[in-house]
Amino acid sequence: MLFRTTLSAGFIAAAHALPQAISQISDGQVQVPTATPIQQISDGQIQNPAPTATPVAAATGNYSPLPYSYSQEPYVDSSAVSSAASVAGLPVSAIPGATNAVPPRVSSVVTGVTSHGPYSGTPTTTGAVSNSPAGTAIPALPPNPTALTYNPNGTLNDQQPIPYQPAGGLGTNGTEPVYRVQSDFDYQSILVGLYQEWIELDLFNHILATFSEEEFTEAGLTASDRYLIEFMAVQETGHATLLSNLLGGPGGATPQCTYNYPFTTVREAFDFTQKLTRFGESGVWGFQAHLDSREVAQLLDQSIATEARQQMIFRQFAGLFPMPVWFETGIPQSWAWTLLAPYISECPANSKRLAWQNFPGLNVLNQPNSARWNATQTPLNETVGWGGARPSNSDVPAEDSCVGRNITGEDCSAAISQNRTIPLSYPGREVFLEWENPGKPVGPNNSYITATMAGAPEFVLWVSQLNITYSPLTNISQNGEMWYGQTIQPDVSTYEGDPAINGTMFIALTDADLPFTAFNLSMVNPHVAAGPFLYQAG
Ligand SMILES: *[C@@H]1O[C@H](CO)[C@@H](O)[C@H](O)[C@H]1NC(C)=O
Ligand SMILES: *[C@@H]1O[C@H](CO)[C@@H](O)[C@H](O)[C@H]1NC(C)=O
Ligand SMILES: *[C@@H]1O[C@H](CO)[C@@H](O)[C@H](O)[C@H]1NC(C)=O
Ligand SMILES: *[C@@H]1O[C@H](CO)[C@@H](O)[C@H](O)[C@H]1NC(C)=O
Ligand SMILES: *[C@@H]1O[C@H](CO)[C@@H](O)[C@H](O)[C@H]1NC(C)=O
Ligand SMILES: *[C@@H]1O[C@H](CO)[C@@H](O)[C@H](O)[C@H]1NC(C)=O
Ligand SMILES: *[C@@H]1O[C@H](CO)[C@@H](O)[C@H](O)[C@H]1NC(C)=O
Ligand SMILES: *[C@@H]1O[C@H](CO)[C@@H](O)[C@H](O)[C@H]1NC(C)=O
Ligand SMILES: *[C@@H]1O[C@H](CO)[C@@H](O)[C@H](O)[C@H]1NC(C)=O
Ligand SMILES: *[C@@H]1O[C@H](CO)[C@@H](O)[C@H](O)[C@H]1NC(C)=O
Ligand SMILES: *[C@@H]1O[C@H](CO)[C@@H](O)[C@H](O)[C@H]1NC(C)=O
Repeated sequence: MLFRTTLSAGFIAAAHALPQAISQISDGQVQVPTATPIQQISDGQIQNPAPTATPVAAATGNYSPLPYSYSQEPYVDSSAVSSAASVAGLPVSAIPGATNAVPPRVSSVVTGVTSHGPYSGTPTTTGAVSNSPAGTAIPALPPNPTALTYNPNGTLNDQQPIPYQPAGGLGTNGTEPVYRVQSDFDYQSILVGLYQEWIELDLFNHILATFSEEEFTEAGLTASDRYLIEFMAVQETGHATLLSNLLGGPGGATPQCTYNYPFTTVREAFDFTQKLTRFGESGVWGFQAHLDSREVAQLLDQSIATEARQQMIFRQFAGLFPMPVWFETGIPQSWAWTLLAPYISECPANSKRLAWQNFPGLNVLNQPNSARWNATQTPLNETVGWGGARPSNSDVPAEDSCVGRNITGEDCSAAISQNRTIPLSYPGREVFLEWENPGKPVGPNNSYITATMAGAPEFVLWVSQLNITYSPLTNISQNGEMWYGQTIQPDVSTYEGDPAINGTMFIALTDADLPFTAFNLSMVNPHVAAGPFLYQAG
């Protein structure tokens, strides 16, 4: 007993002694102590003065990260350092931080055309990872009684720990942050996030590699705009690195896959991308507040803040009004995974499997087409491809197209803001729906199967901004494998002056119209019969 205590105390002392010279974020990456003190977050990357050190996590006693397949050693790019010195006209030694080692990324920067297309093989495994679920639905409970005791009356209710520091908060009591997932919920949430970061890295590169300069120019994009797309792709290499590290490195992270995209024109590519980044961003807003690890939530937020900017930029590239809502909504992980999976064709053998649900596909037959200056005239089926983020067909008659239409309010060329005179949708609009039966193979290697635990759908659930609302699903019919129905677009507001249903938002079919708010929306999952689908409300 004494021996064990001594031993573990020794490890703790060692672990604390190591980073002394530096203040790093432990994101899992190897962090060589450099000569100059720097402030780094250990975001999960191995942080050790390699090669002799015990893994940091040894101090916690039960987890040792596996080695990476690439060199994880932070390194100094000497040509970049001398270039910086020459621009500054200073010796390298005079520029603080210039010789600090920089952590490498899990992916190199991809350029050129890469392989894409559907998967044609046979899956070796099927279904979401599962063990033995304890039940089929999480019962609703009253609020936690302690959540109703704090009195927000402008005075300090409790004694301050130190001057200028009000009492309370999580992770404020001096415990050292541990930037690592802390539960299956955390792990699976960040894992679906990593699948998302990987597709974005591929997608942004693919758009640049596929279309010609002339095609971008026709859509209203300049060389600087194209560079912005390239830069956003490189941002994804950083996001993929961060999330890989938070997952504990190679033992927990998942590699990049091969993808299949539903667009053939620049305009369709941007429409698809503004939808894909919408569910990427909203997928994180749905779970980040529920994470066990506040440290992981911290770093994740700092990457999703960037993703949110990307989503808005792709709306601008598609000539849409950049942000027609006051609040960005959150969706459950299974919704994000349902929307993402149809665009992943094949993943390497060492990919990690997800526990989230793939719901049966839902489609809006009269999805408003943002390539039309009068989207009210959109006929049925004016979309291309498949999946919940399928883009609107950009090939509309020239007189109906809004691309390059030189009339304020009718133009949808890329711009900081395009204010449409005729909104894409309106409350009271009749919306025609089509949905699938469960049991369809989707996702990487066709190895996930769509499923629902709900009864027959009776409602359309609209999820936008801070609210959800339902409209009745009517005139339900079946034709072969597909189901059809219709509904009326509701008229609800978050606060006065902010119509809730606008922008790129989410709909799904449910068997009940139970109330949900932003923090308990995932409890709707057992009631989802089909969807979600990204409705282009504005
Ligand atoms: C505010 O609430 C705290 C805690 O209930 C109480 O101690 C304090 O007297 C209240 N102050 C005022 C001004 O109401
Ligand atoms: C500090 O706060 C964390 C939660 O943020 C808690 O788990 C831990 O027990 C606290 N430690 C002390 C010494 O109070
Ligand atoms: C997916 O299919 C490819 C090609 O058949 C195979 O190499 C790969 O190992 C498969 N991935 C998984 C996770 O089974
Ligand atoms: C837009 O299309 C709708 C449906 O065809 C039509 O009723 C409306 O008059 C059109 N608006 C304009 C300004 O042409
Ligand atoms: C739209 O597509 C569905 C099948 O997806 C088909 O049943 C329907 O006839 C099509 N409608 C039109 C107007 O093309
Ligand atoms: C757009 O219309 C305005 C006024 O009619 C004209 O001055 C301008 O040259 C036009 N721009 C383009 C790109 O056609
Ligand atoms: C912007 O569009 C709205 C209709 O959606 C219209 O009421 C408003 O006048 C437009 N503003 C400008 C400056 O064009
Ligand atoms: C969405 O917002 C835009 C910009 O404020 C507005 O013109 C449009 O009418 C709104 N659409 C809906 C469906 O409320
Ligand atoms: C109900 O749907 C059928 C075909 O799906 C259609 O012919 C009929 O007009 C619809 N009824 C109403 C009231 O819209
Ligand atoms: C929308 O959400 C806000 C914030 O939770 C709430 O105050 C408001 O009552 C909700 N509105 C509707 C129509 O549900
Ligand atoms: C979700 O939370 C809201 C309160 O924000 C509550 O009214 C509702 O009943 C909850 N839904 C379920 C299914 O527990």
